[in-house]
Amino acid sequence: MSDEALSKLLGRMAKDDVLLKEFCAAPAKVLKREGIKVPPEEIPPKIDQAEFSKRLKAAVASGAGRVNLARRMLGRPYGIEGEVAGGRGVGRALLLPTANLEIQNRVLPADGVYVTLTLVDGVWRRSVTNIGKRPTFGGDAESKVETHLIDFDGDLYGSTIRVRVLHRLRGERKFAGVDELRAQIVRDREQAIRYFGSSFVKRNLNYS
Ligand SMILES: Cc1cc2nc3c(=O)[nH]c(=O)nc-3n(C[C@H](O)[C@H](O)[C@H](O)COP(=O)(O)O)c2cc1C
Repeated sequence: MSDEALSKLLGRMAKDDVLLKEFCAAPAKVLKREGIKVPPEEIPPKIDQAEFSKRLKAAVASGAGRVNLARRMLGRPYGIEGEVAGGRGVGRALLLPTANLEIQNRVLPADGVYVTLTLVDGVWRRSVTNIGKRPTFGGDAESKVETHLIDFDGDLYGSTIRVRVLHRLRGERKFAGVDELRAQIVRDREQAIRYFGSSFVKRNLNYS
């Protein structure tokens, strides 16, 4: 996120109630109009105006903390942490190498395929992650998290990794067979590479 642009916008809002009201009612719309690019999953759909106004004015009065307020207000990219467990082996054998996560925090984003960053041995790496029940293979009872690292193919079994969810690509689907699923996963991977190639993402994210 562009902290500086957002911080300036918050400064204007502290003096302009009309702008403040408009922002609280539709944060995504105002950010877009102002040319401030924030990943959609970091933007709340609406903000409690009374509470937000109080915090904003206090932050401005104290002379500091507008950036921190911006961070707190918009949150951080959603994070998932887990130990890499053994999958059924289908992924490695037929699809692309993936790490199956044994999840510690249970509230997961909706099932689907996401562009993610994955922390492996202290390095954030580009990845694409499926959260879901794998309907192509009969369907699991609970959603699982499975990450494919774009430029890393080491064995992660038993290590703890962290996944930051950045951008949703699509919903999970049931494919007619492994070949169709593999073709789609290759497209997901290409889309993720394009996402990381965009100049905004390059400027604002730090990854290997
Ligand atoms: C980027 C990505 C997207 C995926 N999309 C789907 C999907 O749409 N539908 C589905 O049934 N499984 C999907 N999968 C999960 C595969 O079914 C999974 O890799 C396969 O079941 C292998 O599991 P295993 O590692 O336990 O052997 C996806 C996996 C990845 C990495």
